[in-house]
Amino acid sequence: MNRLEGRTAVVTGSGQGIGRAIALGLAREGASVVIAEINQETGLAAQEEIRQGGQKALAVNVDVSREDSVRSMVERCLAEFGRVDILVNNAGIYLVSSVEEMAEENWDRVIRTNLVGAFLCSRAVVPEFLKQGGGRIINISSSIGFYGARNGAHYAATKAGLIGFTKALALELALHNITVNAICPGLTDTAQPRGHRTEEEMYAKANVIAMRRIGQPGDHVGPAVFLASDAARFVTGQTILVDGGGVTG
Ligand SMILES: NC(=O)c1ccc[n+]([C@@H]2O[C@H](COP(=O)([O-])OP(=O)(O)OC[C@H]3O[C@@H](n4cnc5c(N)ncnc54)[C@H](O)[C@@H]3O)[C@@H](O)[C@H]2O)c1
Repeated sequence: MNRLEGRTAVVTGSGQGIGRAIALGLAREGASVVIAEINQETGLAAQEEIRQGGQKALAVNVDVSREDSVRSMVERCLAEFGRVDILVNNAGIYLVSSVEEMAEENWDRVIRTNLVGAFLCSRAVVPEFLKQGGGRIINISSSIGFYGARNGAHYAATKAGLIGFTKALALELALHNITVNAICPGLTDTAQPRGHRTEEEMYAKANVIAMRRIGQPGDHVGPAVFLASDAARFVTGQTILVDGGGVTG
């Protein structure tokens, strides 16, 4: 299908995991995709995979937590594709620590990457959306934004913050044909949870999820394509939990 033909999407943190699956999914729908990634190696690999599938892709090395880096990433996107229609704020990090033992520097690092990064990327694309007469922002929050996480207060604060940011920005941009929505993945098998859980611990979680399995990166593609497509033109300020029915015990 070509639901996104002629559109250009920027997907941050799309060298691996959920972002990579979303970037490939948007490309399959006809979008040209900027792989906006801090890791050059994984960014280039994702770019090659999309190009091999016959779609346009450009890997751009970016640190979403730095304004200058974000601005030059958007400039590279415009120089290559001449427009930007969709922004997926997906880049994120998870550091494990109790609040008591948390270094302020780590609190700041998580906030800057997960929350300030989404603000900087959104602010950089909105002028282009306004010139073009519309656009889509999709923020990748987390079910942890609703439920919290032991030893992840900084992460939970960013993910809850992204939900508020989504609602506020949606109101601000509603009259300009720009929608802003959030997807909240539940536990999904990527490098992020594998960094702080054993495989056994991760898969044990399946027993308390309504659908009795944890997520896979591909589970988030359909909701992202929907929110990016014309089918969702009247949907804004919304948060969709994509978590297999949640933790039900
Ligand atoms: N995996 C899960 O269980 C889960 C659940 C809920 C939400 N999420 C969220 O989904 C998003 C993707 O996570 P994932 O699970 O695929 O993790 P991941 O660690 O596999 O991918 C994150 C990507 O972001 C990139 N990145 C990190 N810092 C960056 C920066 N400053 N600038 C640009 N890129 C940067 C990384 O290099 C990596 O490619 C994150 O926002 C995460 O918080 C994940």
